[in-house]
Amino acid sequence: MGVSHFKIPLFLLSLIIFCMFEHALAGTTKHYNFEIRHQNVTRLCHTKSIVTVNGQFPGPRIVAREGDRLLIKVTNHVQNNITIHWHGIRQLQSGWADGPSYVTQCPIQTGQTFVYNYTIVGQRGTLWWHAHISWLRSTLYGPLIILPKLNAQYPFAKPHKEVPIIFGEWWNADPEAIITQALQTGGGPNVSDAYTINGLPGPLYNCSHKDTFKLKVKPGKIYLLRLINAALNDELFFSIANHTLTVVETDAVYVKPFATNTILITPGQTTNVILKTNSHYPNATFLMTARPYATGLGTFDNTTVAAILEYKTPSNTHHSAASLKNLPLLKPILPALNDTSFATKFTNKLRSLASAQFPANVPQKVDKHFFFTVGLGTTPCPQNQTCQGPTNSTKFSASVNNVSFIQPTTALLQTHFFGQSNRVYTPDFPTKPLVPFNYTGTPPNNTMVSNGTKVVVLPFNTSVELVMQDTSILGAESHPLHLHGFNFFVVGQGFGNYDPNKDPANFNLDDPIERNTVGVPSGGWVAIRFLADNPGVWFMHCHLEVHTSWGLKMAWVVLDGKLPNQKLFPPPADLPMC
Ligand code: C2O
Repeated sequence: MGVSHFKIPLFLLSLIIFCMFEHALAGTTKHYNFEIRHQNVTRLCHTKSIVTVNGQFPGPRIVAREGDRLLIKVTNHVQNNITIHWHGIRQLQSGWADGPSYVTQCPIQTGQTFVYNYTIVGQRGTLWWHAHISWLRSTLYGPLIILPKLNAQYPFAKPHKEVPIIFGEWWNADPEAIITQALQTGGGPNVSDAYTINGLPGPLYNCSHKDTFKLKVKPGKIYLLRLINAALNDELFFSIANHTLTVVETDAVYVKPFATNTILITPGQTTNVILKTNSHYPNATFLMTARPYATGLGTFDNTTVAAILEYKTPSNTHHSAASLKNLPLLKPILPALNDTSFATKFTNKLRSLASAQFPANVPQKVDKHFFFTVGLGTTPCPQNQTCQGPTNSTKFSASVNNVSFIQPTTALLQTHFFGQSNRVYTPDFPTKPLVPFNYTGTPPNNTMVSNGTKVVVLPFNTSVELVMQDTSILGAESHPLHLHGFNFFVVGQGFGNYDPNKDPANFNLDDPIERNTVGVPSGGWVAIRFLADNPGVWFMHCHLEVHTSWGLKMAWVVLDGKLPNQKLFPPPADLPMC
C-alpha cells in the first residue's frame, strides 16, 4: 500500500496540530534522575571518594526551556542527608521544591527518594543547582540552563556554540570533616587546595596538567559562555588572555551589554558573556584564568585556576597539531586579590536591559523598609575548652542584625504551612539593629552575637526595600547575599555607613540590575527592592559557605494572598520527614 493512500482523519490531524501548538506555548515536562552516590575522583594526585550525582563531577547539566516543568527524582544512596536547591528558580507557589535543608524541607535520608517538581515561569538564562546542606555542595553541583521559549530569540547575536564554565573549589581532604572540625574549634576552616573550571584545576597546579579544561574554538565565531561560580568561599575574577568579553546576562536576567576584559563573579552568581573569537587563526594559545577577590582578614586560597582557549585548525592548514604545541601560551592579567576599586567599577556597569520585551519592574513605592547589618562576630568558647576563634576564649560566628541563625531540627515551611510554628521559630527578626553603632568604624568592645531562629513575616505582595550594611567588627568584608524565591533589584550601593537621609536620592529606579545574589561591598552597603509575591518560607544567606555555617542567614515568611494563584500548594506526598 502506498503512502498516498493513507489518510489521517481530520480530527486526528487537528489534534496533532493542537498538541504541537500547546507544546510550543505551555512547555513540556522533563524528567531527570539524580542518584546520589560515591565516586572515586583524582585531582592534584589525591584520590578520594566524593559524593556525586550519577557518579559525575561536576554533576549533570539540566537543560530546559522557559515554561517547562521539571521532575527531578533524587534518590539518596549515601550516608549523608541530602537536599538539592535550584539556585535562582523562582519556585512560584512551589516552595516545597526549593531545597534548603530545614528551611523548606527535611533532608532526604539514606535510601529515601524525593521528586522535586516545579515549573519554570518567566525566566530564561543560566542558573545552577547545588546541594543545600552542610558543605556537600562542594561536589554536588551543576548547571541549570533555561533556553528561551521555542521561537523566542536572545536579545543578542545568536551564538555558534554555548559553553557552561562552572567554577568550583577542591579540597584534598573531605570538606565535611573540615567544616565539622572548624565548628568544633571555632576557628576558620582550612582553605581549599585548588579552584576548578568544569571540575578541573588546570596546569598551574602541581600534578594537574592533564586535568585541564580545553575550549576549542573556530575563528570569527560567537560563543556564549555561561559562567557559574559554584566555589564555596571565594568571589572570583575571570579573564581570557587577549580576548574581550561582553556581558549580556546575570542571574538569568538580560543586561545592557558591555565589554570588559575581566569579570567579577561571587559564589551563587551566574554571568553570561559573549566571546567573539579572532577573525584569523592567532599565533598563540590562550589561558583563561580565575582567582579570588578577597577582602576579609582571614586566610584564603590565593591560587589560580586555568583552562585553555585553543583555536582548532583544520588539518590541511599550516597549523598542524605539532605546530600548535609550539605556539606561545598567553596569560591574562587579573586584578589584585583585594582590588575593591575594580569590583566597584564592574558592579556599577551592570544595568538591566529594561527593554519593552524585558522590562525592569522595579517597585516604585515601598511598603516596608528594612535595615540589616551583615558581618562576623563571636560566640563564647565552651568552658574547659580552648578555642581557635579571634581569641582562645571565642569562636567565630556571623550574624544578620546581630542574630546568628540557629538551624531548627524540623523544616520551617512545614511548620508554617501546618500552623505549628510556635516552638520552631519566632516572627520577631529585628527590622533594624537593636543597638545602632558606627558599623564601619572602630569595632565595638563587645563582639558577641545573639542567636535564635527568627523570621520576618510579610503579607502577600508587600513591596520591600532592604538595605544591607557590612560591619567591620572583625574586619570589613564583602558578603554575597542570596535571596531564595525572588529576584531583587539592586537600587543603590555605597561605602561607609548608609545614610537614610541622603542616599535614597541617588537610587536607580529605572534600570537597576535584577538578580538573586548581590555582593554587599566591603565596608559599605547595598540597597535592594523586591515584591513579596511568592508565598512560602524563603531563605536569605551569605553564599560564602563558611559564613552560612557561622549563622549569617535568616528567613522571610511570605503569607498567602487571597486569590487561588496566590497560595502555596499543599506539600507533595513524598516530602521527607525529619
Ligand atoms: Cu545557592 Cu541558599 O543557595
